[in-house]
Amino acid sequence: MSKIILTGDRPTGKLHLGHYVGSLKRRVELQNSGEFDKIFIMIADAQALTDNADNPQKIRDNIIEVALDYMACGLDPAKSTLFIQSQIPELCELSFYYMNLVTVSRLQRNPTVKAEIQMRNFETTIPVGFFTYPISQAADITAFKATTVPVGEDQMPMLEQTKEIVHKFNAVYGETLVEPAILLPGNQACMRLPGIDGKAKMSKSLGNCIYLSEEADDIRKKVMSMFTDPGHLRIEDPGKLEGNTVFTYLDAFCKDEHFERYLPEYANLDELKAHYKRGGLGDVKVKKLLNNVLQEELEPIRNRRKELQKDIPYVYEVLKKGSETAREAAALTLSEVRASMKINYFEDEALIRSQADKYAK
Ligand code: TRP
Repeated sequence: MSKIILTGDRPTGKLHLGHYVGSLKRRVELQNSGEFDKIFIMIADAQALTDNADNPQKIRDNIIEVALDYMACGLDPAKSTLFIQSQIPELCELSFYYMNLVTVSRLQRNPTVKAEIQMRNFETTIPVGFFTYPISQAADITAFKATTVPVGEDQMPMLEQTKEIVHKFNAVYGETLVEPAILLPGNQACMRLPGIDGKAKMSKSLGNCIYLSEEADDIRKKVMSMFTDPGHLRIEDPGKLEGNTVFTYLDAFCKDEHFERYLPEYANLDELKAHYKRGGLGDVKVKKLLNNVLQEELEPIRNRRKELQKDIPYVYEVLKKGSETAREAAALTLSEVRASMKINYFEDEALIRSQADKYAK
């Protein structure tokens, strides 16, 4: 069986470090591993509209931002198909059929939907399209016969829902759809990168992000303002690592080689942590290390983005070509789905003959 990746993001803003460690960095590694037959990376504008229906301009403007971030990180249109969800009408058709296989109570139990309903104060005014977006996400994944879906931990319930739909569909209509596997970040800190304020996860609406396109000086300012251990007042005081955002970021980004370059008096992060816990290590020193590590990671991304920004029509052309390729793949699956569901009337000679026979008697 071919190995196929599908994943994507909602275009509601520029991408940040949470997106990067949660999924984006991994995607680029997977792309360059050469282990996959096809890679589809989707800008999920239709899904973004399920809770932004009154603000289409925001979604429209952010398509290019997400595309620039993707390509700046190393997603390469020669190796990965970058496309826009709304340009694939087959996804709507697929969602429509899947809706018959999912109950309202099952959707109400989806933990991601539950959390998002709360976050958006949607308790009584939830749009139907938003409520059913897990079904549309199952369509996104299955339309491309994805075997592997690299996403953040928050998407786990979406994958569960997708698997259920695949099983149900195959049980009712015969083996047609491919069951996908989720691919989570390898390291705990990457699973749920907190915002620079240490609160919850990094999110645009909380204003606690470091963006991939951020200028060097702004990165430095944000790192220097990061939440650490509020009880660590003097350098001599022992410090806590739990809930200490600077250390969580170091867990996500720092490698031993960084110490050689920036803090040769320590061999690795474990030594630095031990010193911090003992006392005698100030926050500023740790923050300076993190700043160096982040600058090293983000500088090439920012520079590539600036290059890409000089030729915006090219980026749109990439998305247009990608959407055409993606549409062909989805259409192929759709024709199989239609055959399994027995709604392929005009392609089914046997059907026409048997109905003719019935009336010929
Ligand atoms: N729900 C994802 C997000 O909020 C975006 C998305 C839409 C997606 N369809 C998908 C991710 C299919 C993986 C697979 O970021």
